[in-house]
Amino acid sequence: MASHMDTSIIDRAAELRAHLNRYSHQYYVLASPTITDAEYDALFRELAALEEKHPELITPDSPTLRVGSDLASDFAKTPHVRPVLSLANAFSGEDLQAWEARNQRLSPGSVYTYVVEPKFDGLTLVLRYESGVLVQAATRGNGEVGDLVTANARTIGSVPLRIPVESGPAPPEVLVVRCEVLFTKEAFAALNRERIEDGEPAYINARNTASGSLKQKDARLTAKRDLTAYAYDVMYPDEFVPGDRFERLDWLHSAGFMIPPDVQLLSTLDEVLARVNWWADIRDTLPFEIDGVVIKIADNVQAERLGVVGKDPRGSISFKFPSKEATTVLEHVEPQIGRTGRITPTAHLKPVFVGGVTVSNATLHNYDQIEQLDLRTGDTITIKRSGDVIPYVVGPLKELRSGDEIPIIPPTQCPISGDLLIRKKDGVDLFCPNPQCSERMLRRVMFFASKEGLDIEGLGSNTVHALITSGLIKDEADLYTLEKEELLKLEGFAEKKAVELLASIDRARNRSPEKLLAALGINGVGAVTARLLLGRFSIEELMAMAEKILSINREAASSLLEELIPLSTLLLHKVHLKDPVAASLKQLETDDEKLATSLGELLTTVKPLLELDGIGPTMVEELFGWFKEDANRELIIKLQDVGVSFERQSSRMKSQLLQGKTFVITGALEGFTRSQAKARIEANGGKVTGSVSRKTDYLLAGEKAGSKLAKAQKLGVPVLGLVEWEKLLNSD
Ligand code: IVH
Repeated sequence: MASHMDTSIIDRAAELRAHLNRYSHQYYVLASPTITDAEYDALFRELAALEEKHPELITPDSPTLRVGSDLASDFAKTPHVRPVLSLANAFSGEDLQAWEARNQRLSPGSVYTYVVEPKFDGLTLVLRYESGVLVQAATRGNGEVGDLVTANARTIGSVPLRIPVESGPAPPEVLVVRCEVLFTKEAFAALNRERIEDGEPAYINARNTASGSLKQKDARLTAKRDLTAYAYDVMYPDEFVPGDRFERLDWLHSAGFMIPPDVQLLSTLDEVLARVNWWADIRDTLPFEIDGVVIKIADNVQAERLGVVGKDPRGSISFKFPSKEATTVLEHVEPQIGRTGRITPTAHLKPVFVGGVTVSNATLHNYDQIEQLDLRTGDTITIKRSGDVIPYVVGPLKELRSGDEIPIIPPTQCPISGDLLIRKKDGVDLFCPNPQCSERMLRRVMFFASKEGLDIEGLGSNTVHALITSGLIKDEADLYTLEKEELLKLEGFAEKKAVELLASIDRARNRSPEKLLAALGINGVGAVTARLLLGRFSIEELMAMAEKILSINREAASSLLEELIPLSTLLLHKVHLKDPVAASLKQLETDDEKLATSLGELLTTVKPLLELDGIGPTMVEELFGWFKEDANRELIIKLQDVGVSFERQSSRMKSQLLQGKTFVITGALEGFTRSQAKARIEANGGKVTGSVSRKTDYLLAGEKAGSKLAKAQKLGVPVLGLVEWEKLLNSD
């Protein structure tokens, strides 16, 4: 009764038919699919559901009438020795119990053991060996007949061309092995990196790309693809290899095949379920994609006896994991501002259920990526979850475009502060340059209060937002001078909440200096780096270095700091910063002595930092990129003014043991870093300087002490080894 039917349903069915037929053609005939199986399945199910409700919609060309086959017209065919079977699916523990119960019914009293194998998300390849030599390789085809892809299969490194590869078991006269061909995650990423470099669009789906790669007319093209094959079954002969799945895998392995890793022999369904969960847990850490696991009755004779339903053997079942991929509509892309001012485009999606949760946001790296993907608002897109809850955008399904999609144009202004966005040198990212931008400030304060920072309870985004918009805080330091009366004026603040917030801010005053420095959110400066820095330099010394760099920059009237990074990397290797000025001159290949001198001075300034183990040029740039901002230096001073300290507060009184004594440290001290030794001297009231003079009281000398030791000896400065030093420190 099509006349009563909503025309949109009729249109949709026609549209789906057209899409699905085109995708099948791409997949089966052209061997260049453009969508994932999950997407195809979703569209297929949508059409099947429509047809089930409205059978009059079924047309003779409906793809729902087609039986699966991957045969392509231009490949020679070969019949398979045995049907290449498929698997029934289970999605839950109950499904597995039902499977076991049915097997018990069919063969009462049987005691089964099982193997659980990863279900590779690839495609079947059937390999035929005669007298141990690979003579033929075929795709699954329609299960009875497959496409011959022998030359292509030979290009796959993990397909043995002759077995046994090493000194394994002798193969039978004819051996047929079933395996799965795939891209490892790494190989697929590498392929896409290369394509993007060559200006070609990235492939979206690893499985489809593996399929396309195997079905190349020219084997040289297949050879360029780094495919992998895992063998999981012997299809012929039955009797030659041991009758147990577990032993068969062993046999395959010793013959030279790659086999599914981490397969165990299990004896109860509970053990099987636990193992299924284990695989689900480690899924994202595997080097290849799996879409589930396959559970197989270990004993082949028992499994065979259970027979086959349709194309599915009863003795095995696949347990499907929730798909990590889904298609949905990109509703819009919103620029989000981070604490460093970096703009990250965030994709807002039509909510979609993927990998067990409903998601409505996805991440994008930057606007260049949007351009590369040719992503448009209104596009149907593929998203993928891996590990994190927030999925990433894989790419648009361009075939589904209606023409109404709108290109996404990168913003030129900060959507919050209105400042013109900048691109840092060589960078792809856009930045809001305004440190006072309220959104940047919000992110900064949130980071300051987060677990990575000072861990201040009660500072959620709503509260921070209210504090900023009401003008109560302009930066992190203002948190410490908040007063109860002010807070009570804010919406949602009652006595208790205000008191609690003030108390938790107060508690955060005593966090360690490295936590405080890390809380400032300087890129790359987490607690570990912060400790390293503060172990060697005081915050004042770091500030002084920053001021020095700024003044050198001003004099040179060019942004030397930006040149510093590549140069200092080179210099570090070439001259170990012994003579930065000379090195700069040479490196710059310039006669501009003034410029080289400035650069040399700059390098001399940061040299002590670069000498710290674990601090490299990038770190130096991040650090001074941060200190360069007046607002940031002012923040440090303001924090100190409100009583937050970057110095370790020693609970004990400082020992005066070494009061007035000046030390120089040289050589390698066993069990101490320089900065630890220095801290120990300072904690006892002593001072550490860099060079030996008549004023030096002691030289603390470790292994391989050089010129300083010689100088101390010449000047008659007492030299302490570790033992004497310990004695001195324990002398009270
Ligand atoms: S056993 C009769 N084991 O999954 C044996 N299949 O959904 C049937 N697959 O067509 C296959 N990893 O391409 C088996 N460890 C594994 C597998 C596996 C991936 C694929 C295979 C099969 C499909 C069935």
